[in-house]
Amino acid sequence: MILVVGGAGYIGSHTVKELVDSTEVVVLDNLSTGHCWAIDENAIFVKGDLGKEEDLEKVFSTYSIDAVIHFAANSLVGESVVDPWKYYENNVVATLTLLKVMMKHDVKNFIFSSTAAIYGIPEDTFLTEQSLTKPINPYGYSKLMVEQILEDFSQAYGLRYIVLRYFNAAGAHESTSIGESHDPETHLIPIILQHLLGKREKISVFGKDYDTPDGTCIRDYIHVTDLAHAHILSLNALLMGKKQMATYNLGNGTGYTIKEVIETCEIVTGRQATIEYVERRAGDPAQLIASSEKIYQELGWKAKIKLPAIIESAWNWHKRNN
Ligand code: UFG
Repeated sequence: MILVVGGAGYIGSHTVKELVDSTEVVVLDNLSTGHCWAIDENAIFVKGDLGKEEDLEKVFSTYSIDAVIHFAANSLVGESVVDPWKYYENNVVATLTLLKVMMKHDVKNFIFSSTAAIYGIPEDTFLTEQSLTKPINPYGYSKLMVEQILEDFSQAYGLRYIVLRYFNAAGAHESTSIGESHDPETHLIPIILQHLLGKREKISVFGKDYDTPDGTCIRDYIHVTDLAHAHILSLNALLMGKKQMATYNLGNGTGYTIKEVIETCEIVTGRQATIEYVERRAGDPAQLIASSEKIYQELGWKAKIKLPAIIESAWNWHKRNN
């Protein structure tokens, strides 16, 4: 049985949907940012907190867990700058509690959601797993700290793990039953689509003086179902003993400026956006683009879904759910 911590969240719920086809899944989530409706009906749901040892004890003593996939975290760059305590407490301290209980119950397989935010201001155009890791916000640091903890636990306690560093997750499940839903929403693509649905007056673009071709930030957008598939491959690699420890970037390998993302949304939806340029948002690097060559070479994973199709899937979901 696979324990998915944070399985009611955006990327977690899409991964659970793929996982339940081949294995038994128990989801642990405190529903602080996740949604009950997003949890696949074939998964067992336990409401609880990964920072509370007693909640974890219940799960680990009730179910026979072979591996843990850990999605539960706060993940907003801007918020982490104004409230770092929340990020170190929920992302680092709570993960340590989870790892402690795992070690106690001799559960040694772990998949961890990390982020492109650990790279800080990139020195390379295409970030590889070897690129310098020097975060510029507490969110990035909180994830990098856990990466270090995993390396040390692997040496000391024989933990087997795979770290997946996501670039910008976007899009929705093809069934449109689940998609990206945050409250408040801060992510670019949902904000653009909510605006194009008439739910927001305009789109505020944070900064137009970055060192990029049109002055707006460049990101690498990756479909959430592509991310889910990377988790399944990683899980199998761990369970089959193919990997002991590994770190992989997950992106499309193509960067789009914010203006290009807005233009692509206009084309996909056939609607016109209203934009205002405002101050830069603290903690934003100018550009983040992945090289995902390593996971392709080692596990055969490659992103399949490109930006227009990512936006189309998100649009289908937003039209149905907004
Ligand atoms: N942006 C705007 N206006 C908005 C919202 C976003 O201009 O209303 C800009 C941001 O400043 C940034 C870009 O659009 O330049 C993308 O912003 P998002 O908030 O959608 O995503 P981030 O790049 O800040 O962060 C996301 C995840 C993080 C993850 C990171 C990895 O939220 O968890 O991708 O690249 F670390």
